[in-house]
Amino acid sequence: MELASPSFPLSGRRIVLGITGSIAAYKSATLARELKRRGAQVRVVMTAGATEFITPLTMATLIDRPVHSDFTEDEHAGVWTNHVELGIWGDLIVVAPATANTLAAMVHGQCENLLQAVLLSARCPVAVAPAMDLDMFTHASTQDNLRVLEERGVDIVDPGTGPLASGLVGKGRMAEPEDIADRVEAHFQKTLPWSGKQVLITAGPTHEPLDAVRFLGNRSSGKMGFALASAFADQGALVTLVVGPVNLPTPERVHRRIDISTAVDMNEAVQSCWASMDFGVACAAVSDFRPAQTSDIKWHRADMPETIALKENPDILRGMGQSKTDAQRLVGFALETDEGLDSAKAKLARKNLDAIVLNTLQDDGAGFAVDTNKVTVLDASGRTVEFDLQAKDELAQKLVDLWRTTLIP
Ligand code: C5P
Repeated sequence: MELASPSFPLSGRRIVLGITGSIAAYKSATLARELKRRGAQVRVVMTAGATEFITPLTMATLIDRPVHSDFTEDEHAGVWTNHVELGIWGDLIVVAPATANTLAAMVHGQCENLLQAVLLSARCPVAVAPAMDLDMFTHASTQDNLRVLEERGVDIVDPGTGPLASGLVGKGRMAEPEDIADRVEAHFQKTLPWSGKQVLITAGPTHEPLDAVRFLGNRSSGKMGFALASAFADQGALVTLVVGPVNLPTPERVHRRIDISTAVDMNEAVQSCWASMDFGVACAAVSDFRPAQTSDIKWHRADMPETIALKENPDILRGMGQSKTDAQRLVGFALETDEGLDSAKAKLARKNLDAIVLNTLQDDGAGFAVDTNKVTVLDASGRTVEFDLQAKDELAQKLVDLWRTTLIP
């Protein structure tokens, strides 16, 4: 069983760190490292002024990728920096330090350098950590600019008070990198509907070995579970994905992936973390049976047993339902080859679930290995919601929204 990295509070979050020309730029190195340490992906955009205070090489080394400071990456080859792409890539832009000049440029929509272009084309929220001398900070222009930016929704990380590079003492020192990183964390906590919630998802098939090369399995691709993992993570949840043998890359913001092969392994992985979860979704197509005996070597034709005895596997979801606390919520999936509504209702009660997602193999485009699905969701309070045939990604987002409003207090 492979255990991936432990969860980091900013895991998978994409942060564009803008650095402008202030002496406090030396602290941006610590900030970049701190954001990375907490799991964020960081890209750095520096103004020309910033490069006078700290070298792009320092920043590039810390974030493990080149920094951006010009509109062109390679003038001779005609390669330009796609500021729009950078603005869209980021979940948050943090300008730290933010000089009086850059704050003014932001207010007026100036576009004289790459960072300003990124800020103008950004779709994500922006935070700034001002850093300047006392008189510049207290000047009516700067204060007006900060007020305007705040009104527009920019998060202002207030500077601290203390000795300044000029020798003056007062307000203007950039906030400490750890405090800015805390603020970044708080931003994600308060802005996303599933922030702070731990979500466990099982996905994919299980493989129950018959001999060294053969197994009992099913055609589950894991696509629905992965789409859900991605949708939950995008909404701020800390997602643990317990997954059988599938051929899918881990969705970007998922905190932890545990790869297993058999139902017994999946059960063990689930049992090890379910108690610390707020929400569980059992999407895996777990094999209900496993061969009673397996062989470490490959059976040859002559060794083949005439019959293969089967043993019952643990019902993982039922176990989760049995130990579920009042604070936990649990959703199962039911794949039926016929109508299945009554059977899904019975399963909802039997496994002590809060909701069940029914998909029937009767519907074209629904079920295993395809990219679309058509489902009906039943919940314990008797509500039924039907979703038309649609892409699994889209459906996953709608399910996650539905559960946020109907199942989370
Ligand atoms: O009882 P049935 O297998 O139809 O229930 C399906 C639901 O139960 C799915 O959510 C599936 O992930 C889960 N399940 C499980 N462990 C099993 C069998 C099914 O968690 N051994």
